[in-house]
Amino acid sequence: PLPRSLSMTSLSGVLPAWEEDELPVEDLLLFEVSWEVTNKVGGIYTVIQTKAKITVDEWGENYYMMGPYFEHNFKTQVEACEPPNPAIRKAMDSLIFSGCQVHFGRWLIEGSPYVILFDLGSAAWNLDRWKGDLWQTCHIGLPYDDREANECLMLGSLVAWFFKELTDNLGEKPNVICHYHEWQAGPGLIFSRCRKLPIATVFTTHATLLGRYLCAGNADFYNNLDKFNNDLEAGERQIYHRYCLERAAVHCAHVFTTVSEITAVEAQHILHRRPDVVTPNGLNVKKFSAMHEFQNMHSTSKARIQEFIRGHFYGHLDFNLDKTLFFFIAGRYEFSNKGADIFLEALSRLNYLLQVHKSDVTVVGFFIMPAKTNNFNVESLKGQAVRKQLWDTAHTVKEKFGKKLYDALLKGSIPDMNSILERDDVTLMKRAIFATQQRQSLPPVTTHNMLDDSTDPILTNIRRIGLFNLRSDRVKIIFHPEFLSSTSPLLPMDYEDFVRGCNLGVFPSYYEPWGYTPGECTVMGIPSVTTNLSGFGCFMEEHVSDPTAYGIYIVDRRFRSAEESCKQLTQYMFSFCQQSRRQRIIQRNRTERLSELLDWKYLGRFYVHARLLALSRAFPEKFKTEPIVSLKTEGFRYPRPYSVPPSPSASLHSTPHHSDDEDDNDDDDDDDEHYDEDEEAERDRINIKAPFVLGAA
Ligand code: UDP
Ligand code: G6P
Ligand code: GLC
Repeated sequence: PLPRSLSMTSLSGVLPAWEEDELPVEDLLLFEVSWEVTNKVGGIYTVIQTKAKITVDEWGENYYMMGPYFEHNFKTQVEACEPPNPAIRKAMDSLIFSGCQVHFGRWLIEGSPYVILFDLGSAAWNLDRWKGDLWQTCHIGLPYDDREANECLMLGSLVAWFFKELTDNLGEKPNVICHYHEWQAGPGLIFSRCRKLPIATVFTTHATLLGRYLCAGNADFYNNLDKFNNDLEAGERQIYHRYCLERAAVHCAHVFTTVSEITAVEAQHILHRRPDVVTPNGLNVKKFSAMHEFQNMHSTSKARIQEFIRGHFYGHLDFNLDKTLFFFIAGRYEFSNKGADIFLEALSRLNYLLQVHKSDVTVVGFFIMPAKTNNFNVESLKGQAVRKQLWDTAHTVKEKFGKKLYDALLKGSIPDMNSILERDDVTLMKRAIFATQQRQSLPPVTTHNMLDDSTDPILTNIRRIGLFNLRSDRVKIIFHPEFLSSTSPLLPMDYEDFVRGCNLGVFPSYYEPWGYTPGECTVMGIPSVTTNLSGFGCFMEEHVSDPTAYGIYIVDRRFRSAEESCKQLTQYMFSFCQQSRRQRIIQRNRTERLSELLDWKYLGRFYVHARLLALSRAFPEKFKTEPIVSLKTEGFRYPRPYSVPPSPSASLHSTPHHSDDEDDNDDDDDDDEHYDEDEEAERDRINIKAPFVLGAA
């Protein structure tokens, strides 16, 4: 069938429209393979999971994800069912009859995509043979003790075997496209291509292995990209075989993509192939019907974090919680790659600045990075228990008090306030207060017992800079070395709710191909710090005229020394602390407006483009040799908010029409802000004509 033309515009009319040939999906099957399908490790899981909805909308029953089977993940996230397509059932059966377990079901996430999961344990007896195959095909040998690489080989062998069976069953039609993610999915791609299976292949890398290792080892990476001896460096780090798998997959793919321009340049040097398409990561953005719902959610979540703080700092709560700001960093624990090093250093400088300026603002800096632990520590648990006891005491006394008051009012009199509290009530309250005063120790900087306490990089640096949660400190630290969960007895919140309740996400990464964390803040209307070495930061710098005005602070880690970057970060945080509540509310409204730029509805087009390109390369006689449309977005920039003055320095504070002395904490005033901000948004819309429309190059 002749491809129809698909044209897409954005909701607000601000983003560029797009035209591209629509794929005849009824004649195609799309597969996506990743180690993180139903299996959360880091950001790749977020890519796969958030993109599912738009992919299912486009492909329906013709879309399948593939990954490793883990019993726990399957039981908690997947609803088993029969494959709707007989050819898929048949291919699965071939593997099952040969003794390998394959599971099928719907992944219970938005879009409910089908998943095919391979039980690696059941296939392990083939490992030696498959290692031989790998050696025969491309002379890559895997050491026996690299368990992860061996498992990836098993996954890849099963995937390629499945495709062999499937394409034998299908014959001419439908054509198959398979999109492989990251080096772990590499062997499947290598085998598929070396066995000349008739499928169009896309490979996306979300980092380069060597890049991540070199940066973590403090190499001056970006200034020496063209100078590294890659084989030698990979060998010295004992990742040579993984590096080879990655590089082979990159070169085997019909289409190679990566998540950002900065990683494209890196890939060109480290993997020796320039990506064909950059596929920036999107999110599944939910718009609330009530305009300011996300502001209310901020308030509710913030109240829950405040409760936690009340417990954690019991006996030391001599700071005003209403003037306390919550900053946080979160992600896999790569201390310097994720910029936890300069965040800590900048917090210590911020502490000093707030002290010398006699600021009444307190900052709590959260570190949410999983490390090896042996459960929560007693002191943290005790804090929450004491808080609960105080709450219960207050509640009991309040109930009794309320009842007496009510009885008195029924009798037409105002009770004697001196006798309304009984001696027992007072005793109860005194006992509760004494419990809080017994605290000898400082509020702990970490919530868990750390296994590597003495060598842990965050703790070592806290000791060095001396941020111990002293009463005099204006910056307090809480290291939560575990991902957040709503079932935690300590801080019972999901990551998303926690982010909503914070004031600023701080992600000053040095190595970050994309970096979901600041983008997740943006769509929830929470300002964040990112860098010009992260894919996300570069994307924002390129596509937003004045990122700072929208609450996206970009630290320069590319052209400045670590010391200078740290100074800049400190300055950003200090200015943030000087904003009034009103200014923060306005800023959050603006931040949230950028969501559409990060929505898969907009960014999903790059995946569509990559697939079309792969089809045209794999099956040139059936699909046009090259897609007609160029997907360059150069030239498009999200316009600055209407009311921000044109000078960049003036916009630093994002103070459209209120001065600091108008600050007050009366929430009633917030409504005015919302109104003003809506008006501002409206003016923006009227004044903007989409400056650039995606079209034929
Ligand atoms: N994340 C999470 N729970 C937490 C902290 C982080 O689920 O407590 C998630 C976060 O939502 C994000 C991912 O971890 O989607 C990290 O992805 P990113 O791209 O920032 O970094 P990566 O780990 O892939 O390098
Ligand atoms: C939201 C709520 C307000 C609340 C504010 C707190 O905007 O709608 O009622 O006062 O958050 O903001 P802050 O920046 O101080 O956390
Ligand atoms: C990688 C990168 C991260 C990126 C994620 C998803 O793990 O470290 O920056 O956001 O993949 O693409």
